[in-house]
Amino acid sequence: MAELFNVYPLYDIEPTTAKGSYLWDADGTRYLDLYGGHAVISVGHTHPRYVKALTDQLNKISFYSNSVRIPQQQELADKLGALSDHPDYALFLCNSGAEANENALKLASFHNGRTKVVAFKKSFHGRTAGAVAATDNPAIVAPINYNQHVTFLPFNDSEAALAGITTDTCAVIIEGIQGVGGIQVATDDFLQTLRKRCDETGAVLILDGVQCGYGRSGKFFSHQFSGIEADIISMAKGMGNGFPIGGILISPKFSASYGLLGTTFGGNHLACTAAVAVLDIMKDEGLMENAARMGTYFMDGIRQIGGYKELRGRGLMIGIEYDFPVDSLRKTLLFEHKQFTGVAGKTIIRLLPSLTIGVDEADQFLEALANCLKRKDAMVDAKVAKI
Ligand SMILES: Cc1ncc(COP(=O)(O)O)c(C=O)c1O
Repeated sequence: MAELFNVYPLYDIEPTTAKGSYLWDADGTRYLDLYGGHAVISVGHTHPRYVKALTDQLNKISFYSNSVRIPQQQELADKLGALSDHPDYALFLCNSGAEANENALKLASFHNGRTKVVAFKKSFHGRTAGAVAATDNPAIVAPINYNQHVTFLPFNDSEAALAGITTDTCAVIIEGIQGVGGIQVATDDFLQTLRKRCDETGAVLILDGVQCGYGRSGKFFSHQFSGIEADIISMAKGMGNGFPIGGILISPKFSASYGLLGTTFGGNHLACTAAVAVLDIMKDEGLMENAARMGTYFMDGIRQIGGYKELRGRGLMIGIEYDFPVDSLRKTLLFEHKQFTGVAGKTIIRLLPSLTIGVDEADQFLEALANCLKRKDAMVDAKVAKI
């Protein structure tokens, strides 16, 4: 039998159907999804409007290249510009978060002709050449991707940023809320300092909204809390609710020319249809407001339970840091309480549920968490399935 290249540690669970914030396996066991398939499920699994839009489009035309008019691209640009409050930014479409950041870095370098990039400690920007070079994890940077262009500065350290960003700097790339890095929220003051310093030096400010964007924080992009305007904003994950699509929103200060950027699959009919359906649902169902409201509800409940070292996040991007490894806790939540959660590092539980999640689901999680923490000793030795 041919083998899959074994890069993912797997849970012995096979979801076969899904709806809203739930997954079911073939035996009918139901799982609560507090992880959203890694922040991807924005409008809930198999939302009927999303399914209908994709089914209808599939029956008409699913793909043609970027050499013809694809009106769904314009519809997406218009609706994204309106809902995210960036009506004057241009949209370039691609297929993933890494690709979005790759194009953002290239565009910055085309724009000012420079090569040096400032990124931040614990950053994650993806696995393609430029994006991974700007990712602070040597374990995933292959020798061919390692370059001398990137400097990693401490996160939320304005003084270091003022000194480290110079007239040699091509781009500064930052997540408004670090995801893989452990749900670290960039402070308003820090983002404002970056904006000011980039203006002084001519560096391009790239906000990576791949994980923290698309309404998850309660605003469309989390950096909008700080009032700053980014030069380029990258996005992916929640954009297609599972259909692969990524993109960058580009400030009017950049000019396009034929061939400057390009892609075969980016902006195809199906991907755009998925993304338009997501935006329509987000708007009509008030999902950004729900993310803000439910984020507060989760945080209040977690605070009442206590037992953690630090609670961080915004909206439905929540990190609960404990002073012990959370592996057993997560396995107990998964195998005993049938609840999927995410993780960052060894000690941080990461919650990234669908933006549609409600009080009933939050209560199920809070009850399960409280239950697990009460029996901390039992929990560590809990009889859990091996991954
Ligand atoms: C902040 C951030 N940027 C970029 C990426 C890369 O996205 P993708 O896996 O779609 O290439 C991720 C993925 O986790 C991410 O969290």
